[in-house]
Order: sequence, then structure tokens, then C-alpha cells
Amino acid sequence: MSNALPHIRSITELREQVALWRNEGLTVGLVPTMGALHHGHLSLVEAIASHADKIVVSIFVNPTQFGVGEDLDKYPRQEQADREKLATTPADLLYAPSVDEMYPDGFCSNVTLSANANEPCLTEILEGAERPGHFDGVATVVSKLLLQCLPDVAIFGEKDYQQLAVIRQFVQDLNIPVKIMGGTLIREADGLAASSRNIYLNTQDRKTAAKLNRVLKNLVQAVEGGQNLRAAEAAASAALLEAGFTAVDYVCVADGTTLQPLEKLTAGARVLAVARLAGIRLLDNMAIGAR
Ligand code: PAF
Repeated sequence: MSNALPHIRSITELREQVALWRNEGLTVGLVPTMGALHHGHLSLVEAIASHADKIVVSIFVNPTQFGVGEDLDKYPRQEQADREKLATTPADLLYAPSVDEMYPDGFCSNVTLSANANEPCLTEILEGAERPGHFDGVATVVSKLLLQCLPDVAIFGEKDYQQLAVIRQFVQDLNIPVKIMGGTLIREADGLAASSRNIYLNTQDRKTAAKLNRVLKNLVQAVEGGQNLRAAEAAASAALLEAGFTAVDYVCVADGTTLQPLEKLTAGARVLAVARLAGIRLLDNMAIGAR
């Protein structure tokens, strides 16, 4: 018998199981993922374990958050291996719905963020500018997962820092009764941020990829030491191209909550960056201490 986490595929089964737990007075945590689980995902399961009695992990490769020409078709799908990994964690149940279960015929609703009185739209800057429509897909599917499961708490990794900010925003705006937790960004031994897409990198690219983390560390040091923010961003972009990345989508010192670019360093600042290598976009971000 294989040692794999039990799984369900329908909203009805999910609601029945959650209702049984609720009748026993237990709290529920949700860890939404797209599968191809690595130690970053497993750390989210561990992190939520002290905040909920029962843990549901979802795996759903959400087509609506992939743009035209992106890697939806080749995105790694390895559910059996994922279930075996999850069996070694405190997770209690895998929810892995089909595309038809999530988007049945006739589906036509979307969750879209817009600008507010004080700030431009959070989903149109940085990742949103590079991947138009991406965050509508994320906001819609995460809303659905939260409403299907109705957990007490849900956790999302800080590697996708902007995604976490978007989720916090619409959960607050739509009064979805769930606590959103951020999970610490997990790195490989050489500093590369853990990601399901790292498997696309060959040995040489993998060495280059690790330099993203070093370049960002240097930027953080430089701006903490008083360097002009725009000059530090430009130096980091140049260093990434010099290191062998094929393009730099952005390197931005931003406010840690609104993600708007900063003119001068303030408390809670963060650097967010995306550099391209071997046809993939590598995301990273790092906290900056105010001077
Ligand atoms: O971060 C991810 O894996 C996905 O964007 C999420 C949050 C599961 C939504 O599909």
C-alpha cells in the first residue's frame, strides 16, 4: 500500500469533510498550491500546523492565471509524488479538483482589483505589468478555493510577495472570513528561491540562477548604506545581465505593503526582482531595513 495522503476531487466532498471537522469543534487551515511540491510548499504546511487543527492542501494548476505562450501545458504535474511528500507532513487531506469542477460550463465571473483613491492598481504594477490578467486569474481561483473550503486560516508563500499582497487586499475588500498568513521564502543551499519552475534549469543555468540572490543582497546592503535607490536598482540590473541573465523584467525597491516604488527608504521597504534565464522568469524579493 502506498503511503500517500488521502485525496478528494469535488467541492461537495470538501464541504462534507470540513463540516464533519467543524462539528467536532476543530479549526481548518488551507494551503493552496499548484502542485510539483518542493520544500517551500512543505514549509507552508508545517507553518500553518500550529494555527489549525486540520490542514487541507489544494493542488490545482489554474489555467486562468497563465497567459498566452506561458507554460500551462508543460507545468509539472506529479500528483502521486506530491501525495507521498504530503504524507510526511501534518497535512490531513488533499483537495485536487479538475478544471471542470472549478470552471464548469457557463462560468463567467472574475475577481478583479482596481486602483483606489490613493494608489495605482496593485495588480497592474510589477508582475501585473509583465503578465496582464495574471492576478485576475489568481484572485478568482483563490476566492473560489477559500469559499469552497471556508478555512479559518490560509497560507501563501512570500516568494510570490505581490501575490500575497493581492490576496490580502481582496480578502479584506470582500470580507472573506479567513486569516491570511505569509510563509517565509525558502531558499536552496545556494540561495536560489525554491520554485516548482527551477526544474526547467540545466546545471549551468542553475549556477547562474543562484546569483540573483547575491545581487539582491548587495543591493540591500547598498541602499541600507545610503545609496540612491534608483542608482542601486540600475546597478543590480546591470550586475544581473553581467552574471548571464538574458533579461531583467524589474528590480524595484518598493513599499512593503502597497508595492509602490519608493523615493527614499522607509520602514518595511522591500526589493522585488524578476530576471529571465533559459526562458523562465525567476522571482525573488528581500526585506530591507530602514536606516
Ligand atoms: O502560488 C500558487 O501556487 C498559485 O498562484 C495559487 C495561489 C495556488 C493560485 O493558483
